[in-house]
Amino acid sequence: MQQLTLTRPDDWHLHLRDSALMQSVLPDTARQFARAIVMPNLRPPVASVEQAQAYRTRILAALPSGSKFEPLMTLYLTDNTSAQEIRRAKQSGMVHAVKLYPAGATTNSDAGVTDIRKAYPALEEMQRCGMPLLVHGEVTDPAVDMFDREAVFIERMMIPLLRDLPQLRVVFEHITTREAVQFVTDMPGNIAATITAHHLLYNRNALFSGGLRPHYFCLPVLKREAHREALGKAAGSGNPKFFLGTDSAPHAQHTKETACGCAGIYTAHAAIELYTEAFELLGALDKLEGFASFYGADFYGLPRNTDKIALRKESWQAPDSLSFGEHRLVPLRAGEFISWKICS
Ligand code: DOR
Ligand code: ZN
Repeated sequence: MQQLTLTRPDDWHLHLRDSALMQSVLPDTARQFARAIVMPNLRPPVASVEQAQAYRTRILAALPSGSKFEPLMTLYLTDNTSAQEIRRAKQSGMVHAVKLYPAGATTNSDAGVTDIRKAYPALEEMQRCGMPLLVHGEVTDPAVDMFDREAVFIERMMIPLLRDLPQLRVVFEHITTREAVQFVTDMPGNIAATITAHHLLYNRNALFSGGLRPHYFCLPVLKREAHREALGKAAGSGNPKFFLGTDSAPHAQHTKETACGCAGIYTAHAAIELYTEAFELLGALDKLEGFASFYGADFYGLPRNTDKIALRKESWQAPDSLSFGEHRLVPLRAGEFISWKICS
């Protein structure tokens, strides 16, 4: 296939940052996607409806003129999030989900949940009113091997949580393992998952090929090949529980190329092209539109988009770096080729 037309996709997991940094990255997303679920891990975190409202206003103000992109806001769950705040969020109509970061699991997660029982009043209200919980599914126990933290999270957190709150709508975000694929597949329809382009395209060898490669470091970290294959099977299966979430997470070049580098891979510059490449390699281009444009909207109870984008099979070279406020940002595939290109 040389040309592909898709209903305009949405990104169900995105980091936009704020201020000048946001100004640099937002056009990349707005060019391709109609909507995105915007992560709340700013400093300070977006933990109240007022903060989400203000953040939304800043995003809309930073959009290129004429853009119809719609940010879908989330709240950052803390030990102190009240049931009342959840009701306010639901009533606002602009908060679409609440994000659970186990404290210490990843970038700006120190205000996250220290003990899930503390969040039960909020979670019970979310179950009641149908507000989805978005989960960063990794345990933070330092005794657990870095590559096992997602699988252990299922046993220690997901299963008990869903035993207590069986109707809670949950998106297991950026899954990276066959255990997570199996878990989501086996659960009822209130449990879904997002899959990133980088976890479909790379395994953990990318982190170490010819030396240490900080631009392939993200959390959850890339896993071994068998897991990448399981993710590809899930994404390419047409099962509506699995949908697109880039987890595009920009960090300035100097904060990644350093002794203790930040976690996060920037893919928004070529997100749908990278997914198209992954689906072509899977032999599943016919399943891309459901994954990218339909199943996420269906899960969130939002209308599917109606306009289209077109992609052409054409190799193009990604830039070595992009501007990121006053800094530089190294995107995935920097200086290398990408095999599909948006043409309209
Ligand atoms: O790699 C990651 N980067 N994983 C996350 O969970 C957070 C993200 C970020 O905000 O940079
Ligand atoms: Zn993320």
